[in-house]
Amino acid sequence: MPETVAESRGRGAGDEPVVRLENVQKFFGPIQALKDISLAIGHNEIVGLIGDNGAGKSTLIKVMTGVQPPTSGRIFIRGREIDLADYSVRMAHELSIETVYQDKSLADKQPLWRNFFVGRQITNRLGYINIRKQKQIADQILKGAIGFRSAGITVDSTVAHLSGGERQGIAIGRAMHYEADLIILDEPTVALAVAEVRKVLDFVRRIKENGRACIYIEHNLAHVHEVADRLIILDRGRIVSEIRPRDMSVMELTEYLIDLQHRT
Ligand SMILES: Nc1ncnc2c1ncn2[C@@H]1O[C@H](COP(=O)(O)OP(=O)(O)OP(=O)(O)O)[C@@H](O)[C@H]1O
Ligand SMILES: [Mg+2]
Repeated sequence: MPETVAESRGRGAGDEPVVRLENVQKFFGPIQALKDISLAIGHNEIVGLIGDNGAGKSTLIKVMTGVQPPTSGRIFIRGREIDLADYSVRMAHELSIETVYQDKSLADKQPLWRNFFVGRQITNRLGYINIRKQKQIADQILKGAIGFRSAGITVDSTVAHLSGGERQGIAIGRAMHYEADLIILDEPTVALAVAEVRKVLDFVRRIKENGRACIYIEHNLAHVHEVADRLIILDRGRIVSEIRPRDMSVMELTEYLIDLQHRT
C-alpha cells in the first residue's frame, strides 16, 4: 500500500533511508539501462557502486538526483514518495542530495571562497554580497569540514593552483557545508596521483564521520573496497549482488567482476 505523505511525516524521518528506489526501470528507446532496481541508502554509510562500462551506474545516479526521470518505478526520499513529474536537480538539492562530478564542480579562475557560494550568495540588508562573511565561512569549511591544514591553501587561493585531490576535497567540503545528507561522488579519483587519491579517500571517510551518507562510483576496486561499508554491483542494468568488503578481498571481487563479463 502506498503510504501518504502525512503518514511518512508522522514517523521519525531519521529512521527512514535517505533515498529508496523501488522497481525503477529506465529505457532509452529500445535500450533498457536500468532493470527493476530496488535499493535503499541509509544514513551514515558509504555505498560503493561498481560495474563495467555501460552497466548503468551513471544512469542510476541521474535518476536518483532528478537529472533524468525513470521510465517507471518509485523514489522515496526520507520515506516520502517523490512525485516524479516534479522531480528535478533543484528539488534534489533542496532535499539535501548533492553530486560531486569529476572536475566539473569548481570554477578554475576563481578564488576558493567564491567557489563555495556560486548560486548561493550571502547578501546584506541592502542586497550587497557580504564578502567578509563569505570568506569567514569558507575558512571554517576549509579547516573544519575538510580539515585542510596544509600550508599555502587559504580561502584566497586560486582553484587552478590546487591539486586534483584538493579540488575534490573542496567540492566534498562544500557539499557537507550545505548539509547534504547524501553526497554522490562519480569517480573522484580518476586521473589522480597516488598521494592525491589518499586525500580523496580521507575526504570520503570524513563524509561518514560527519554523519552523512555517500554513494561512491568507482572503477578502481581497491579504492572503493577500502572505504565502502557495502558494495552494490550492477551488471547490464541489474543489481546482481551486494557484498560487504570484509567478506570478499579485492582480488576475489576483481575475479567476480571478470566472471560477470563472460556470462551471457
Ligand atoms: N542519454 C542516453 N541515451 C541513450 N542511451 C543512453 C543514454 N545514457 C546512457 N545510455 C545507455 O545506457 C546504458 C548505461 O549507461 P551508463 O552511462 O549509465 O553506464 P555506466 O555504468 O555509468 O558506464 P561507465 O562506467 O562507462 O560510466 C549504456 O548502454 C548507455 O549506452
Ligand atoms: Mg558512468
